Amino acid sequence: MADENLRLRAALRDLVALSTLPAGWIGVEPRPIAAGLADILTGSLDFDFAFVRLLNPAGGVTIDVTSGCATSEFFDWLQAQLSTLDESLREQLIVDDIDDRLKPLRGIIIPIGFKGYAGLVAVGCERSEFPTDTDRMLLTVAANHAATAFRGANLVHERREAEEEVRKARDQLEMKVIERTSELQRTMNELTHLNRVATAGVLSASITHEISQPLAGILMAASSAQRWLALREPNIEEAQGSLDQIERAGHRAGEIITALRGMFKRDTQAREAIDLNELIFTVLAILRYELQSNHVEIRTELDESIPNVDVDRVQLQQVVLNLVMNAIEAMKSVSNRILIIKSAARKPNIVYVSVEDTGTGVDPFNCDDIFKPMFTTKERGMGIGLSICQSIIESHDGRIWATRGTDKGSIFQFELSTNVGQGDQVRQHRA
Ligand SMILES: Nc1ncnc2c1ncn2[C@@H]1O[C@H](COP(=O)(O)OP(=O)(O)OP(=O)(O)O)[C@@H](O)[C@H]1O
Ligand SMILES: [Mg+2]
Repeated sequence: MADENLRLRAALRDLVALSTLPAGWIGVEPRPIAAGLADILTGSLDFDFAFVRLLNPAGGVTIDVTSGCATSEFFDWLQAQLSTLDESLREQLIVDDIDDRLKPLRGIIIPIGFKGYAGLVAVGCERSEFPTDTDRMLLTVAANHAATAFRGANLVHERREAEEEVRKARDQLEMKVIERTSELQRTMNELTHLNRVATAGVLSASITHEISQPLAGILMAASSAQRWLALREPNIEEAQGSLDQIERAGHRAGEIITALRGMFKRDTQAREAIDLNELIFTVLAILRYELQSNHVEIRTELDESIPNVDVDRVQLQQVVLNLVMNAIEAMKSVSNRILIIKSAARKPNIVYVSVEDTGTGVDPFNCDDIFKPMFTTKERGMGIGLSICQSIIESHDGRIWATRGTDKGSIFQFELSTNVGQGDQVRQHRA
């Protein structure tokens, strides 16, 4: 009875020792679980030798851990057992007296895992009555705790792997988005440049006229200056007047060339505080001949008080130029051709520009498409003008849209936010 009591107490003590295992194994990797199990079997539970094997769920041996001492005979026996074991190991294998003259060890092998086979635990013990029911019960409890912890570890591992996969996929996606964005940016830059060169091609008659006109003026003024100076009494005053004309014509040609040069530049992206009214006048100067030869009447309603905007000058010129070119083209088939350009300060920090024509108007059927790249209703159009305008305005954090004209035709409008502080400084500087 006393013996029975002692055994019961020992079993209870061992069960308590085992019950502390799960708490210590939360979030722990498989190897420390295997090592912890082997240690408690030889330490707290007083077995002489423990071997723990945990299998990789994907197949193959992952972790082998031993604790305590065993003879080479025991190892040979264990090795032989392991080589014959397979996943069908469900039952405990009990092996008696593994032969060694000095220390006879008895062994037992127990599977770890409830449903699937997660590994095994092999224990060696010198006691002649080993394994008792209590031994088997304790080993089964320990193996079950290990199975639960191992499953938890695998779940953590799987979650980490899944997180890693998600992270990799996200990184790859981000890289793709960056690549695609810069690819699109490159294409847009190419198209923007192409649009400028194409417009310059269309305007070649205007350009030739704009430069040859001041040149002809220069030649005429130069010959009259020569005549005034060749007189017996040279008329210095008249000659001076002719020289002034030469200077003015030279400046005009120079301004046109400077404005045009920007159109051939590949990349610009230099932002500066710009007076949009001045920019509109420059574009109208470039298009003067085009407007005149198409008999377009120009009306401007420019608000003198609009603040400067921080923009890329060449790009904004391109926007206004595209809108005016579209207006000219839309009025080719009508007789009453009026172009109205307005600028205004709207709300705080918003500058607004509109280009209105009395042309054919946008076909309501096409309203949703006109800003799309490659959409054109013109025989020789590329269909990129408005999409480039939109891309430029949006890259300046602005907005561009189209509405029907007051009477007929259409109104294309854009708005940009202003950099009031900088604009004022520039304005004061100019004054
Ligand atoms: N002021 C306008 N009045 C009527 N329709 C217009 C006007 N501006 C643009 N559109 C319509 O929008 C379409 C797209 O214009 P967009 O400037 O993008 O291309 P495009 O003028 O056809 O060719 P390009 O690339 O040479 O400018 C035009 O083909 C035309 O149908
Ligand atoms: Mg166009």
